[in-house]
Amino acid sequence: MNEQLLGEYYACVDDLLLSAPVLQMKNFVQHGQTSCYDHCVYVSYCSFLIAKKLGCNARSAARGGLLHDLFLYDWHQKNENGLRHGFTHPSAALRNAEFHFQLTDRERDIIKKHMWPLTLMPPRYKESYIVMLMDKYCAINETIKWNRKRLRTLFARVERLCKSRAVVTR
Ligand SMILES: [Fe+2]
Ligand SMILES: [Fe+2]
Repeated sequence: MNEQLLGEYYACVDDLLLSAPVLQMKNFVQHGQTSCYDHCVYVSYCSFLIAKKLGCNARSAARGGLLHDLFLYDWHQKNENGLRHGFTHPSAALRNAEFHFQLTDRERDIIKKHMWPLTLMPPRYKESYIVMLMDKYCAINETIKWNRKRLRTLFARVERLCKSRAVVTR
């Protein structure tokens, strides 16, 4: 894992990662054994890397990616088959994200359209397409448990950065 890139990524999202609403996502399971928090960190980091590679707005991709599933409820309990959740959770996530954080238009679009084509309106920005695709890629990886070692390394590094920053800012 490239430490410099990880540092650049962390600088884009550190305020979000240390915030109560984002940390609350640790309480909810997303796919398989992956928490909503880990899923969002995974999507956010992958989207950051791709956006940077393509010369897009990597900061917005990272921030929108981190907040894309900030719906903050257990979707397994709320809907038996998850179908309704698939349609409605982008709006719930956007509502929560707008309530707690200042969002750019790009970040708003990323969150609202990340389930496209399930939700009808297509994404407006390249970064929204990146997050939409990375969301599906990460969800498949989490479900089939592919790349587990790489994932664990990513989560451990991000956690370490959060802890070091939390001590400094206290
Ligand atoms: Fe989602
Ligand atoms: Fe997601």
